[in-house]
Amino acid sequence: MQSITLIGYMCVGKTTIGKALAKELGLVFYDLDWYIEERFHTKVAKIFAEEGEARFRDLERRMLHEVAEFENIVLSCGGGTPCHFDNMDYLNTVSQTCYLQASPETILQHLSMSRGERPLLRGKTPDELRTFVTAQLAERRPFYEKARHTIGVDVLDSFDKIHLVTDQIKQTLSL
Ligand code: S3P
Repeated sequence: MQSITLIGYMCVGKTTIGKALAKELGLVFYDLDWYIEERFHTKVAKIFAEEGEARFRDLERRMLHEVAEFENIVLSCGGGTPCHFDNMDYLNTVSQTCYLQASPETILQHLSMSRGERPLLRGKTPDELRTFVTAQLAERRPFYEKARHTIGVDVLDSFDKIHLVTDQIKQTLSL
């Protein structure tokens, strides 16, 4: 079976859904940000702060190729992974790519409940956040839409609805 890659904007639920999906399918779960953090014994936010985004994107690309070599995995990427270099084309050749599609409203709602550190969103007022997320999502959409499959996740307003999304992914991939 080809590995499954989950892509989409920050806070759509890639990690939570990926973990649940891997468990249901008996596959191994990887989160690209966590993989980078373990490999380099640091935090993604620290790489951004100390070495800049360009350096992070370079590391991210290299680590993506490393992880994508593993078989039978569910991989959740960072929100920006598909939008740099040829990462999206690469992912489409090595995995079943699923775009987890959410509206800006859903993303902002998840963000307000999230405790994760997100360097690109840090220090913004609620109004600035809304403007930034809406604009960046529009910019990134053409990359995300290259995925082989699209799964709507606006239904996800609480943790007990995760199975609705994993069921939809399994149905879409005929698993
Ligand atoms: C980023 C998303 C983050 C992380 C980094 C940059 C982005 O991952 O890779 O902060 O550019 O959207 P999540 O989507 O898991 O938050």
